[in-house]
Amino acid sequence: MTGTRAVAIDGPSGAGKSTVGHALARRIDATFIDTGLMYRALTLAAVERGVDVEDGAALGALAGRCQVAVERPAPDQRDRLETVMLDGRDVTRDVRRPRIDRAVSAVSRHAEVRAAMLGVQREAARRGDAVMVGRDIGTVVLPDASLKVYLTADAQTRALRRAVEMGRPERYEEYLDEIRRRDDADSGREVAPLRQADDALVLDTARLNVDECVDAIVARLEEIGA
Ligand code: DC
Repeated sequence: MTGTRAVAIDGPSGAGKSTVGHALARRIDATFIDTGLMYRALTLAAVERGVDVEDGAALGALAGRCQVAVERPAPDQRDRLETVMLDGRDVTRDVRRPRIDRAVSAVSRHAEVRAAMLGVQREAARRGDAVMVGRDIGTVVLPDASLKVYLTADAQTRALRRAVEMGRPERYEEYLDEIRRRDDADSGREVAPLRQADDALVLDTARLNVDECVDAIVARLEEIGA
C-alpha cells in the first residue's frame, strides 16, 4: 500500500464512470484521474503522426516520446471535468472526436502501450488520495486499492444516455452499435481486459442515479474504515 487512499472504478463505456468518479472525488476530497483520456491522447498523437494503430512497438515508442497530462480544468471551463494536454497543447475536445472513438480500442489493446501507461498511472495515484477510473484499474493498475468499484448498465441504457448527451436521439442505433463494438474489444483483448475484480462493489447505473452511487461508495468506504 502507498499510504494514500485510492478508489478504483472500472466498467464499460458509457456506464457513468467519469460522472460518478468526479462526484465521488469532490465528496471525499481526492484527485480524479480518468485513464481513458490518457489512451485517447495517445491515440490522437498516433492518428496525427500517421503511426499505425496495429503496430504495438511503434505505439509503445510513441508513448515514451509524447507528454500526456490530465489536469484540473481552469475555473471558467465549466463544460469539462478535466483538461487533457498532449505535448503542451490542450486536446480536450479533439480526444472525444468520433475518429478517436473508433481507433482507441485498437491502440489500447497493445502490451507495449499498456506497459507505458502503467507507470504513469501508478505514479499519479501515489501523489495523494485518488479516484481513478478506467477498465483495468482494480484488476491491474491498483490491485491494492482501498476500494474497487465496478459500474455497469445494459448497453441500451448506455446508448440512450449518449444520444441524449449528444442531443442526437436519431443516432441511438449508431451509438448502440458503437457501444457493443467497444464492449467486445475492451472485454475480449488479451492484455488487461475489462473484467470485474472479485472484491468489487458492483453498482448498476441503470437503477441508481449519480448521488445514489456516490452514497453507496462512501458508505462502503466508511464500513471498511478506508
Ligand atoms: O473511458 P473511455 O471511453 O474514455 O476510454 C477510451 C478507451 O480506452 C476504451 O475503449 C478502452 C481504453 N481504456 C483502457 O483500455 N484502459 C483504461 N484503463 C481506460 C481506457
